[in-house]
Amino acid sequence: MKPFEKPTNPSHWSNHYGLERFQKGGHQTLETLMEYLRISQSQGLDYVLPFKDPNARLEMWRQEMQKGSDARNGLVRGDLLSRVLERSNHLHDPRYAGHQVAVPLPELAWITAATALLNNGMAIDEMGPASSPMEEAVMRSIAQYMGLGDEASGILCHGGTLANLTALLAARQCQSERDEWREGTTEKYAVLVSEQAHYCVDRAVRVMGWGEEGTIHVPVDASHRIRPEALETAFSEAQSKGLKVLSVVGSACTTSSGAFDDLNALADFANSKGLWFHVDGAHGAAQIFSKQHRKPLEGLQRADSVAMDFHKMLGIPALCTGLFYRRSKDAYSAFSQDADYLYEQGEQDEWWNLSKRTFECTKRMLSVAVYGIWEQHGAELWESLVDQLVGNAQAFAANIESREGWELFASPQSNIVCFRSTQWDNALLRKRMVERGPHYIVKTEFGGETWLRCTFQNPFTTEAVSTSILDRLEALGREGD
Ligand SMILES: Cc1ncc(COP(=O)(O)O)c(C=O)c1O
Repeated sequence: MKPFEKPTNPSHWSNHYGLERFQKGGHQTLETLMEYLRISQSQGLDYVLPFKDPNARLEMWRQEMQKGSDARNGLVRGDLLSRVLERSNHLHDPRYAGHQVAVPLPELAWITAATALLNNGMAIDEMGPASSPMEEAVMRSIAQYMGLGDEASGILCHGGTLANLTALLAARQCQSERDEWREGTTEKYAVLVSEQAHYCVDRAVRVMGWGEEGTIHVPVDASHRIRPEALETAFSEAQSKGLKVLSVVGSACTTSSGAFDDLNALADFANSKGLWFHVDGAHGAAQIFSKQHRKPLEGLQRADSVAMDFHKMLGIPALCTGLFYRRSKDAYSAFSQDADYLYEQGEQDEWWNLSKRTFECTKRMLSVAVYGIWEQHGAELWESLVDQLVGNAQAFAANIESREGWELFASPQSNIVCFRSTQWDNALLRKRMVERGPHYIVKTEFGGETWLRCTFQNPFTTEAVSTSILDRLEALGREGD
């Protein structure tokens, strides 16, 4: 057995935990981040994404890591943050119109830093005496604002993927006559969802053990909305295969093209069959805050559960997702676990011990940013953000339509625009753009054909900037094959 080693000298720890080092690091970080914001907001570099082959990047970091260990004198090498910034995708640059991740409100970096320092683990009330009641208060208030009713509430968790899985776990337990959580599932369950739904719904179904046939992909129309009349057929086919349909999942909106299912039609269907109605609003449920753009969400208020990412259209750093329930008590059905060392009242509902309702045990103090915005701005700040982002997408779509040689997939209902060139190879256009910039846009495929795709996440993407996306693509196209 190893002999007991004397603990390290306390002065070692007062160095690492000391205020002086903390203050110095803070000042340096502030200056570096100010410079990042100044440069990226003013489009000061000739790229948004610093493109380089992944293996070359890995090699660079491996070599630097080696150097770091040779010259270890602090916790991190002083220029680490600068190197990370230089080599990261710059979401604050107005030419960023790529994947659907928030361009965080810079102030929230301080909340995130402060809550990282406090590190209250949130699993139980004592490990989140401020952030647990803040979460309960803000989630109740937002759930009720969404129109889910007086009994509504919700939890925060790390991502839409986890929120959708959690909602389906609650659906399974609430819909079944047996105690699925305790006894295990013997039924072959299934879920009806758009064939354009985010893959995480299918992943959740497989995680729950229902296999490939557990996800029933319902056909969509030309603008990617579930065809409501196809629900009945899909339902009967599932029954004839011996599957027990538990839930209808609406997409609000779909990830690739930003299409909103007709939520009222889905709610009617769910009611008529006694199914759980879940809305995957990871991207688009945020539009509830906008009077101008909430129309595609009509019917949301009839859902049993709704997932909404605060880290997509609402300016909050990832990951931060709300899972809302019409009946707050249903949240306790997803997991019911004895953990004597954690909980006061065994399996009973205790809103203050949040891990009774979340997959996570320890979780970050997600509520502080959400609560802070809601307390100080109500829906107003989010309304203006959603209006700006969707407005930018609509202006871009109008620009596409006014040009020869471009085709718009559908009029945007959200901040997502899919479009393609009718004269050049779209995959080649995107490859050139991603490798040489300066803008950052992405692509998707519909029916085996490539479409270009912009998600307008940055409120500073003015019409002049979005015009420059099309000008740049045309210049890249004119270079020929
Ligand atoms: C409709 C939809 N659902 C779920 C997800 C997954 O969310 P997250 O990335 O927060 O896990 C996304 C992500 O883009 C999405 O658009």
